[in-house]
Amino acid sequence: MIKELRNKTKLISVTGLGYVGLPLALEFARYFKVIGFDTNKERIQLIKQKKDPSKELVPSDFEGCDIEFTDNPSDLTQAHFHIIAVPTDIDKYKVPDLKPLKEASAAVGKVLKMGDVVVFESTVYPGCTEEECLPVLEQQSGLTGGRDFKYGYSPERISPGEKNRTLSKILKIVSGNDEEALELIAEVYDAIIKAGIYKAKSIKVAEAAKVIENVQRDINISFMNELAIVFDKMGIDTTEVIEAAGTKWNFHTYRPGLVGGHCISVDPFYLIHKAKELGYNPKVIAAGRTINDMIPQFIGEKVVHFLKKLEKDPAKCRVLVLGIAFKENISDIRNSKVIDLIHELQSYSMEVLTFDPRVTRNDLKQVHNITMVTKPEGLFDAIIIAVPHDEFKGLEKQDLEALANGELVLFDIKGIKNKEDYQYYWRL
Ligand SMILES: NC(=O)c1ccc[n+]([C@@H]2O[C@H](COP(=O)([O-])OP(=O)(O)OC[C@H]3O[C@@H](n4cnc5c(N)ncnc54)[C@H](O)[C@@H]3O)[C@@H](O)[C@H]2O)c1
Repeated sequence: MIKELRNKTKLISVTGLGYVGLPLALEFARYFKVIGFDTNKERIQLIKQKKDPSKELVPSDFEGCDIEFTDNPSDLTQAHFHIIAVPTDIDKYKVPDLKPLKEASAAVGKVLKMGDVVVFESTVYPGCTEEECLPVLEQQSGLTGGRDFKYGYSPERISPGEKNRTLSKILKIVSGNDEEALELIAEVYDAIIKAGIYKAKSIKVAEAAKVIENVQRDINISFMNELAIVFDKMGIDTTEVIEAAGTKWNFHTYRPGLVGGHCISVDPFYLIHKAKELGYNPKVIAAGRTINDMIPQFIGEKVVHFLKKLEKDPAKCRVLVLGIAFKENISDIRNSKVIDLIHELQSYSMEVLTFDPRVTRNDLKQVHNITMVTKPEGLFDAIIIAVPHDEFKGLEKQDLEALANGELVLFDIKGIKNKEDYQYYWRL
């Protein structure tokens, strides 16, 4: 098939053109002919105008690509190598929501032909591809997986905001339903990935590898967050402890912080779900989630405590929160824990304003009851640097002091300022 993909007599399709799918589709479209499909019509309209709705790509990223964008699933019929990169979120009970994955599988299943290949990129739990997606592909196509078509799993490993670690520069894990599928999938991805291909022993291994990359990060940060809570009670600065401990050769340095977003704060629930289904209730993974989710409340309580110590009535205080994105140097606010922090502060009747130069949203008030300003004005009883965007790293002490109501009270969550320079200062 690789020969036909190369000479464009066969096409690649990418279903789901979000943070993962759009750059992937464009990269493939530099070497192959691609159909990019998304159910969101507005997204497709923007993408057709070379505008990335996720605001990660610029118009020049669309240049030199042989690609057609569509919101019509029947256009997928032109393709023979199908990639699915739709969201895998959790519902309000923190249980995997496989609806987009199953709907996308159904759309691809309807157009599946003998000899086609389907590769899933969405983050899932081990077993999901074969137990949940494959039956939908088979049912919709009337074909038998493995015999009539091939399938595999290749997780995306990009990290939002990491401009130097783009798709082609990250080693790609691939897997297939058999040796032939594995070799073919590896060959196709090898055309776009400069960092190399890792052939996983099975689809389940590839699924598990992806999910534990994020679970491990969640747990490591949760350990630091728990230490931050304990050391705060002891009056010890956690950053100073981590710096000292980091001098040992086998100490792994992680920092405490707000863990939000659509990967690290979500994926552990996929593994928890599957483990529970198999009769085991994970302890460490669940504890990591619990601690990380507690941090907004912990910081909120520290702010209140600090203001009270300065004999300020929290209910009469104005607080400025710098940054609302879920991590530094990105515009994405999905599952941002800064939102939880602001709600915590609001629960003490504080007036909270947020400023984030990276985030352009005008529905924050409507959706989250959060007031976002385009320029911080007036005086604030406390300033919280919640997200260490580069713009905030560049702020001078006098810039912050100019916004302070009396003495500057600075909460520098990730410790981006020199604490010795500030009198009323707290970091996680
Ligand atoms: N964003 C990241 O940095 C990142 C990194 C690694 C892995 N992942 C994983 O990749 C997957 C996709 O994440 P994302 O961030 O790109 O999501 P996203 O929300 O940015 O984009 C998903 C796109 O899929 C579309 N979609 C939803 N249902 C569809 C359907 N049935 N048919 C066609 N299109 C459909 C949506 O309209 C949207 O445009 C998830 O499993 C995620 O966990 C994401």
